[in-house]
Amino acid sequence: MNPAPVTVTVPAKINLQLSIGPLQPNGYHDIVTVFQALDLVDTIEARPATDGVRLQVVGEGAESLPTNSNNLAVRAAQALARFHGIPPNVDMTITKRIPIAGGMAGGSADAAGALVACDYLWELGTPREHLDSIAASLGSDVTFCLHGGTAIGTGRGETLTPVLSTGEFHWVIAFSHGELSTPKVYAECDRLRKVAGINAGVAPNYVSDLLINALRSGDSELLASALSNDMKPNDLQPAAISLKPDLQRVLDTGLELGALAAMVSGSGPTCVFLASSQDHAFALAAELSGTGVCRTVRTAKAPAPGAKVQR
Ligand code: C5P
Repeated sequence: MNPAPVTVTVPAKINLQLSIGPLQPNGYHDIVTVFQALDLVDTIEARPATDGVRLQVVGEGAESLPTNSNNLAVRAAQALARFHGIPPNVDMTITKRIPIAGGMAGGSADAAGALVACDYLWELGTPREHLDSIAASLGSDVTFCLHGGTAIGTGRGETLTPVLSTGEFHWVIAFSHGELSTPKVYAECDRLRKVAGINAGVAPNYVSDLLINALRSGDSELLASALSNDMKPNDLQPAAISLKPDLQRVLDTGLELGALAAMVSGSGPTCVFLASSQDHAFALAAELSGTGVCRTVRTAKAPAPGAKVQR
């Protein structure tokens, strides 16, 4: 065991495209998504211990999170130890900045961070393909949080193909009052489709060319038009708004204030707004914050690296 504490940062994700197929017998939907990691990060510190996994959580929403094996980070440490046949002895502190149940993979990020932190602390050098499969067993977004950057996700979202993204994109993030449960948002998506007579019988296999070209160009105006014109980027957005109708006002307010594009992040209720530059993002964040339509506003750059040991 490494005697020194290790600190890992791990990013939040947004979905620039989230196309949902039918519900499968395993309880998941087939999806095609384009993930992008933001430099809004949680931090996981892992220290040597002798008596199992201990977890403390501080920061954004910490008081509402479990610190036992209901926390995905604890399950991640246990799963890694089990894979290697060693006792799961670690003392972890998570500092949260990613909103909880916000559609930005906060819990998945902590699991990915715990995997990398414990792998380093326990000096295991787990090959990447094994880390990936442990990550996938923990949750659909955990693998992407390990890798970061920009990637197409298929299957449940755990099968990744990297996407070339140049330059930097600037985002304003509006944290909502309250949370949304991911399974409930997926179920609402199914319900709305049934009511509308939409048959989602086939797994989606289409990634927007406009989106891929915009990412390659690094041009935020092109990205904005890909998000606005080419398609309805997030199939879960109508479901999130149906469960939390005030989200429409958050999106409209951001657009009125000059955001290049606005969308619900994943299953919500966090909303994200594309800005043309860092200065634009700061100005938009200040104005959005002043309107009082959301709980907290942050800015973030993308793409950001995946779970990473800080030296
Ligand atoms: O994989 P994860 O634990 O993050 O998924 C949470 C829930 O979200 C699943 O139990 C399922 O209800 C829903 N989900 C889905 N299809 C996906 C990913 C998640 O239906 N591709």
